[in-house]
Amino acid sequence: MKEINSKISGFYKLSIEERQKIIFDIFNLTDDEQKILKNFGYFTPSQLDTTIENVVGSYNLPMGIACNFKINNKDYLIPMVIEEPSVVAAASNAARFARKHGGFHSDKVKSVMISQIQITQLENISSAKEQLYKHKKEILERANEQDPVLRKLGGGAFDIEIREIATKKGKMLIVHLLVDVLDAMGANVVNTMAEAVTPYIEELTNGIVYLRIVSNLATQRIAKSRATFDKELLGGEKIVDGIINAYEFALADPYRATTHNKGIMNGIIALTLATGNDTRAIEAGAHAYASLSGKYQPLTNYDIDSNGNLVGTIEIPLALGTIGGMTKVHPMARLALKILNVEGAEEMCQVAAAVGLAQNVAALRALASEGIQKGHMALHSRNIAKLAGVPDDLIEEVAKILVNDKKIRIDYAKEVLEKLKPEGPQK
Ligand code: MEV
Repeated sequence: MKEINSKISGFYKLSIEERQKIIFDIFNLTDDEQKILKNFGYFTPSQLDTTIENVVGSYNLPMGIACNFKINNKDYLIPMVIEEPSVVAAASNAARFARKHGGFHSDKVKSVMISQIQITQLENISSAKEQLYKHKKEILERANEQDPVLRKLGGGAFDIEIREIATKKGKMLIVHLLVDVLDAMGANVVNTMAEAVTPYIEELTNGIVYLRIVSNLATQRIAKSRATFDKELLGGEKIVDGIINAYEFALADPYRATTHNKGIMNGIIALTLATGNDTRAIEAGAHAYASLSGKYQPLTNYDIDSNGNLVGTIEIPLALGTIGGMTKVHPMARLALKILNVEGAEEMCQVAAAVGLAQNVAALRALASEGIQKGHMALHSRNIAKLAGVPDDLIEEVAKILVNDKKIRIDYAKEVLEKLKPEGPQK
């Protein structure tokens, strides 16, 4: 490999092929490695080149379908894109436990996003506030001029909130522009609006505006879902009790609550990614919401009903869209949305919340019983067998032996393969 000089002048101006050549050359890529980079899958090079900058290839991940989901009396097949084994199976299982009791019930979700406008260097905070409230209608009109279509469809900016914060740079006023973004995730819309109203806000307040940007803490877009999970299907009273104990652990301990919520996000992010939505926005919002009380908390909560079944609820901000961003541009995201079969963003948030709840129940059930490694190891051992060069028709058999013998290692897979060959081990 050549010495790497990361300053490649004009890299962004090159075509994908030209950039690839540079990478081939620096890293001395083999023919097989070059082939991987040249495989754009269902993308055309020009499609890829307009998505992000400095594109050199396309990265595939598996997409699975979680089954058994009934949400608000409608059945769904959930597309999930994730690299982690067991997640899809776990979600399907927990959905089956809830299905026996009618499935999930998700509340209505508003599609309101918040854009923040930071006003600094104010000489008179109270008169600035007064001016803003007095001219709220004009501010909203200016914002809505940016998106007449959204307005026509019934969405748009409809209110402002004003918050005063104390900082090392003095007091600031933060205007929250509240915008109904309908079926979009909404960041682009609200950012454009916030930028557009800024000169008027500076004029009204005599302050200096710096930031004008969406808040990913989408507290106006909270999704709530609940379900009853069957005691017997979960594995009996002891397991239900184990889940309640796990929940109490998460309530009391942020170290545990973080992992608890990570399990929820396994499901929600897999759906977010499948549908071409912004995974980072969803993660950031969820974890900030979990700590709004001042202490990081689990996003789900659990109880036991009079029959001993587990009753779970989830509450989480979800800024998901069915239009805009990658949702319609990415061929697989488009397909995933078709499979998901939702009318719009609200229904998608209702589904995503249910998936998060199911994912959490499945994880807690596994943790409260056999632990999660068993399921993980079954899949992991298949991967190890593959890496050891085991032919496809023997993978299941070898993988089982690796798990039974608790030796999930490539060298052992090779040894097992040798023994399984009809001619027996090589001398
Ligand atoms: C693993 O991806 C997720 C879990 O750790 C979640 C949890 O501990 O609740 C199993």
